[in-house]
Parts: sequence; structure tokens; C-alpha cells
Amino acid sequence: MSTTFRDPMRVLVIVASTRPGRLGTAIADWFVRVTKADAEHGGIAVDVAHLAELDLPLLDEPEHPSEGAYVHEHTRRWSQRVAAADAFVMITPEYNYGMPGSLKNALDFLYHEWAWKPVAFVSYGNTSAGTRSVQMTKQVVTTLRMMPIGATVALRIADSTSDGQVVESMQIEETARGVLAELTRVADAMHPLRADAESVGGPIDGLTVDLARPGDLAEVLVLQRCCWVEEALANDTLDLAPLHETLDELRESSKQWRLWCVRRHGRLIAAVRARAHGATWMIGRLMVAPDYVGKGIGSWLLEYAEQMAPAEATQFALFTGQRSERNIGLYERAGYALTSAESMPPHSVYLTKQRALVG
Ligand SMILES: Cc1cc2nc3c(=O)[nH]c(=O)nc-3n(C[C@H](O)[C@H](O)[C@H](O)COP(=O)(O)O)c2cc1C
Repeated sequence: MSTTFRDPMRVLVIVASTRPGRLGTAIADWFVRVTKADAEHGGIAVDVAHLAELDLPLLDEPEHPSEGAYVHEHTRRWSQRVAAADAFVMITPEYNYGMPGSLKNALDFLYHEWAWKPVAFVSYGNTSAGTRSVQMTKQVVTTLRMMPIGATVALRIADSTSDGQVVESMQIEETARGVLAELTRVADAMHPLRADAESVGGPIDGLTVDLARPGDLAEVLVLQRCCWVEEALANDTLDLAPLHETLDELRESSKQWRLWCVRRHGRLIAAVRARAHGATWMIGRLMVAPDYVGKGIGSWLLEYAEQMAPAEATQFALFTGQRSERNIGLYERAGYALTSAESMPPHSVYLTKQRALVG
């Protein structure tokens, strides 16, 4: 219950070459170094996997990887590493106009772990700067439901390296930073497609619920303002905190609350937040995009937030506008009753519901 946000985004940099004396290590070090400040600033955790160190044999799992029934420890370790990632950067050379066999083998070992995540390439080689290797790899990664992004770094060894190191160049460094930026944007957009974005039944199909990431807050703020316009009309006042909250204030308050985002096909369509206050599970800012109102999403999300309460919580509580009849009706149908509270935001009423004892 300690986390208020989802885990930081994790980028796995995969060094494909296993050749003793490989250039790949220096290229990976360079990529990590020139993107480090951006990664730190964006709260992105970068892990580097050297296929040479993983020591995967040629595929030796008896079952198809889509079964996930791995019998070997080396596969389980690789599986955990890839599953933990939100996006990949493949540092790959070109061998005989194609990808190194080590990369194809490492890809073949797994299945679901790769799916619905973006992949970027940092390629290198002689005449074609490794681009033919990338083209071949794209065919494989798309089969695994990865999404190759457009931004790419392609290094011609003779032009871009010297003494086994990438030469200093503002232009290539900018390109590398652009790769990380695009990769993480696409990773965020693809996240709702993933099985680990909790796909919960809900009243309509295609809904996912996930704890917010800091990067979600601007979108939440837009939805919040949009939803509270109706509250302003219903209560005949603009004196409602959710209408005026700034992004910085939302960022600050989100450290105290757990905030869940509901998406449908990637679009934020609803949100709710909650936090413990003694034995009370305070629920707030329940919002549903206007074009999704009336489909049962509010009641369902309220129930979802209740289910997230810690074991110690004995009651649920929330505030709503005193003239927000539709909201009050929704809460009363969910078992809430109007109650008095010591301190109330202006123009609001307080509702509580005892938690049903389980077992
Ligand atoms: C088996 C092999 C095949 C290669 N084939 C190509 C090729 O088709 N195109 C190319 O541009 N470079 C080719 N090269 C040159 C590599 O791009 C270059 O040696 C690079 O440093 C290999 O990456 P690594 O040092 O990380 O293993 C080949 C190198 C090897 C070892």
C-alpha cells in the first residue's frame, strides 16, 4: 500500500553481439551515457542485458514459448528480465546482411514477455550501418507483437567510431536522446494493451485500470476540469477546487493519494483516487468522461476503489457537491448515506458507508 504511483518505466538495453572483442559493449555504454540525464529526469530505469553474459544456449526449451512452461533456469532468468521491461533498445551489429544469430535466439526463447512493448534499434556495421540487420529483426519483433519505433541510431563504423569507441558528435547524441524520448512515449501509449495493465471486466469492453504514472497527471487534470464543469453548473459556483487545481498542485497531492486511471483503447476515460485516513478509506475525484457517462463506469469504478482499501479500513467516505444530484444518487445506490463531517470543502456534502465484513 506504500506506492502512490506505478513503478518507473523500465527500458532494457539488449547488447546482441556475443563475439569476444565485440564493439557492441562500447556502443551500449555510449547509448546509456548520452541518454543518462534524460533517463534520470524522466524517472526511467535502464537495465542493460549483454547476451554474451546471459549465456543462453541455442533454444533448448521443449514447449513453445507461448506456453511459458520453461524448464530451464536460464530461460526463467531471461523471462523475468524481459517481462520486467516496458521497452527495449536493441544494440545490434549486422552479420552477413542480417541480424546476429544470438539476437534471433534470444528473441525465440520467449513470447508473451515481449508483447505490446516498443523496440528501438541502435545498429552498427560497415557499408549499411547495420540497417539490413534492423530490417530483418523488425520482421521478427513484429511477430512477437513488439512495435519498432521510427527513431533510430545507425552507426557506420568507419565514420562513427574510433579506437573501438563512438566518436563524440552532438548530432548523433541528439539522435540517441530522440530515440529514448520516442521509445518512452510509445511505451506509455502501448501500456494499456498489455496483460499486466489490469484488464478488468467492467460494464463495457476494453477497459484497463492502472495506477497513474507521473506522466499521466496532465491528462488527468484535463479530464478533471472537463468533468467538474458540470459540477460547477449543478452547484452554481466556480468555487470548486478540482476546477482550479494546477498541474503542480495535482502532482503534489498525488503523493498522498493512490490514483487509478481507466483507459479504453489508450484514451483516459475515467479516474478515481483514494487514501487511508485512520480507519476510513477516503475516496475522491471520481470522474468519467462526458461521452462515457451513463454506462455504469462511475458505479463500477467506485466499487473498484472500495476493493483497493487496506484490510484495516472499516468505512468508506467521500465528498460531493451538495447539489450534485446525480452523484449523490449514484453514491446512495452504492450504499452511502449523508453524514456530517468536522470540516467540509465549500458547497459539499459528506457521505459514508460501512465496510461489509468479509467471512
Ligand atoms: C560474421 C560477421 C559478419 C559480418 N557481416 C557484415 C555485414 O553483412 N555487413 C556489415 O556492414 N558488416 C558486417 N560485419 C562487420 C561487423 O559489422 C563489425 O565487425 C562489427 O564490429 C560487428 O559487431 P561486434 O563487434 O559487436 O560483434 C560482419 C562481421 C562479422 C563478425
